Parts: sequence; C-alpha cells; structure tokens
Amino acid sequence: MDLGLKGRTAIVCASSRGLGKACAMSLAREGVALIINGRDEAALAATRDEIAKATGVKVTAIAADVGTKAGQDALLAACPEPDILINNNGGPPLKDFRELDRDALLAGVVQNMVTPIELIQRVVPAMTRKGFGRIVNITSVSVKMPILGLDLSSGARAGLTAFMAGPARELAAHNITVNHVLPGMFNTDRLRNSTGRMARMQGRSEDDMAAQRKATVPARRFGEAHEIGEVCAFLCSAQAGYITGQSILVDGGLYNSV
Ligand SMILES: NC(=O)c1ccc[n+]([C@@H]2O[C@H](COP(=O)([O-])OP(=O)(O)OC[C@H]3O[C@@H](n4cnc5c(N)ncnc54)[C@H](OP(=O)(O)O)[C@@H]3O)[C@@H](O)[C@H]2O)c1
Repeated sequence: MDLGLKGRTAIVCASSRGLGKACAMSLAREGVALIINGRDEAALAATRDEIAKATGVKVTAIAADVGTKAGQDALLAACPEPDILINNNGGPPLKDFRELDRDALLAGVVQNMVTPIELIQRVVPAMTRKGFGRIVNITSVSVKMPILGLDLSSGARAGLTAFMAGPARELAAHNITVNHVLPGMFNTDRLRNSTGRMARMQGRSEDDMAAQRKATVPARRFGEAHEIGEVCAFLCSAQAGYITGQSILVDGGLYNSV
C-alpha cells in the first residue's frame, strides 16, 4: 500500500536505536525526509547513514536531549514545520514506587508527559495552517496494564494519553491526528537490559528469564521493532486520517481484554 507520504517531513524523537529508529526507518521507506535524534552522537550518525543508504531520503541528525528546551529548539530549528511528529523518549528505570523522591517523580513526568506535550504545542500551529498533521506518541502497554516497578513511567504516559484526548478531538477538524502506540515487550536494548536486571535479581540466567517473559505473551515471542515502525507509519498515512485519539496496542495479545 502506498501510504501517500512521499515528500513529507518528520521529526522522530529518540530514534538512534530501538523503537524510535524503527519508526524512522518505516517512514523513510515511504519517502519521508527525517530529523532523527538521540544523545549519543556516534550511534546517531551511524543510524543516519544506515537509513539514508537504505532509503535515499534526506536524514538530518540532531544530537540532543529531547527533554530539554535546548534539545527541542534544535529539533525545531532543523525542521520548523514538520508534517509528522513521533514522540518517543527513554523511560524511568525500574524502581520500587516507595523509593521515588519528589525530584525523581517530577523528572519522570517531564520525560514521558511534559516533553511530548511541549513538542505538540510547538508543531500544531503550522500543521493547522497546512491542514495536515500526524502525531504519534510511543507510550506503553503499561498505560492499560500495571507493570510493578514501572509505575512512574505508566503514570506519566497515562497522563499524556488523557491530556491529549481533548486536543486530539479539537485538532481533528484540521486533518491533524494524535494517536498513541502501546508496545508490549519488544526486542530492544531496553528490554534486554531489564531482562538482565530481573535475571540478576532472581539469580537466574538471562536466557531463562527471557523465556519466562516470552511465555507470558500469547504470541510466545517478543515483538520486533519494525512491527512498531510499520504501525506508526500507517498511523501517519494519508489513509489513517480518520483515526485519532486512539491507543493502539501492539503486544502479541499480552493485554488480556475483550
Ligand atoms: N522495548 C519495549 O519492550 C518497550 C515496551 C513498552 C514501552 N517502551 C518504551 O518505548 C520507548 C523506546 O524504547 P526502546 O525499547 O526503543 O528503548 P532503547 O532501545 O533503549 O532506545 C532508546 C532510544 O531513545 C534515545 N533516547 C533516550 N533518552 C533520550 C533523550 N533524553 N533524548 C534523546 N534521545 C533519547 C536513545 O538514544 P541515546 O541513549 O543515545 O540518547 C535511543 O535511541 C521507551 O520510552 C520505552 O520505555 C518500550
């Protein structure tokens, strides 16, 4: 299917590795020129070269912390009027909720709620003027299903989801959509790190721990990052203009519901 995105531009936050990179690659395959982002300059440059070589689109790398004003300014200076914004970021580490002090709580809320909202505030004026905009927030299955220890991440992302529910409806009249993609367990550095941590805590091997985690997923496997990228690209497509304010689970059936 041609997604009707050739010639569009996208800012894809936190996209040097993992799910963000997969979203960038899927959009690039549709002919979307990209601004990609991450803090590690070398990893980001390697991803820029890989995507540009594979797809032939223009890829601009902005090495910056997306959670800072300076980082956001740099992204928007590189592309002041993106057609597409993919909000992605790191997430707070696994921690007992009792151990989160006020600074840690606020940092998590800034990371996974305030930062995407700030970027949305800054891109919607031009999208409104142009009559086209696609915004996708990468959140987590934990918005719907508790994952003990990731409570701050879950709460901040649930806050973002609720916050955007009203604006998504207001923006719909301008052909701007706002949707959330909720990954289950995906084979990325983040998942490998958390599996390693759990294995050490339980005195087991990483392979054992990974097998136990996979067994909790009806699909009996972890997701691959491109499976998020392709959903994200579809939500950005011309065809998806009637889908807005939705939380799309991509989790191999993990969230058990009707
Ligand atoms: N993988 C999963 O199973 C899963 C499930 C549910 C939700 N999620 C969420 O999805 C998001 C992406 O996860 P992932 O698995 O792709 O993680 P990942 O493999 O660790 O990749 C994270 C990416 O974000 C970049 N990044 C992190 N902090 C940044 C910052 N402050 N500014 C700019 N870039 C930043 C990293 O680059 P640098 O480190 O160089 O900055 C890297 O490119 C996370 O919020 C995660 O919590 C993941």
